[in-house]
Amino acid sequence: DVMKDVSGLKHLEKQLETVLDVPSVVIVPGDSDHNPEVKNEMGLACVQEMERCLKPESIIAVTGGTTLAAAAEIMHPLKKKALENVQFVSARGGLGEQVENQANTICAKMAEKAEASYHLLHVPDQLSEESYLTLIEEPSVQKSNQLLQSATMIIHGIGDAKTMALRRNSSQALLNKIDHEHAVAEAFGYYFDQDGRVVHKVKTIGMQLESLYDNRTVIAIAGGRSKARAIQAYFKKGPDSILITDEGAAEEILSLI
Ligand code: BG6
Repeated sequence: DVMKDVSGLKHLEKQLETVLDVPSVVIVPGDSDHNPEVKNEMGLACVQEMERCLKPESIIAVTGGTTLAAAAEIMHPLKKKALENVQFVSARGGLGEQVENQANTICAKMAEKAEASYHLLHVPDQLSEESYLTLIEEPSVQKSNQLLQSATMIIHGIGDAKTMALRRNSSQALLNKIDHEHAVAEAFGYYFDQDGRVVHKVKTIGMQLESLYDNRTVIAIAGGRSKARAIQAYFKKGPDSILITDEGAAEEILSLI
């Protein structure tokens, strides 16, 4: 019975807002761990939230991941007059992910489908001090920086720490650190323990965690029962956000407390 399902999810959303202390939660039915279609539903919900929050001249910073890729796939032209001159910008450089999961790929695809412009960040995500100081002088990198600093909206995924470190072919040293420091969550290259403390971050030209606390619209999109602990940990100290998740993650989070 569809009406009952909808009101059941509304109830879950309210519970999750309280438990995670997140201003707004949207839950789609199902569990994306078992049904890939559910990622598309989260993608659709993300596009709807974006449109609800967008203003003309908005600058939208986007990260990577398969969930964000689903949102990009489902994007449609932002034709409304009110949404003129919306720009997309990659929040991170190459993160050692497969190309279809990288922020640049997703940023370009989302912007093309939205019929908006975009600016990519063509640098590796992890940099030595020396490379950082050289690359930061590049005009295209300076433009990225300036766009990221003035971004009005940030859209990002959240992952399980170990899963993400392995997916990115991280060094043995980082894998050990993740174990020793008990990292459970990962978001845009930062790793967090169960209290939401940052246990590892990379020297990067991309978006810095601090920027998310800067009075912008932040949309986090992550689902699947396997991400419950990661979502819970990330929001221990996380910024005010709109969380888009699924029933599988939501139920598991509520069972953890
Ligand atoms: C990316 C984030 O958007 O999504 C990562 O930058 C996050 O930090 C990842 O872990 C999650 O990927 P997926 O494929 O599970 O959506």
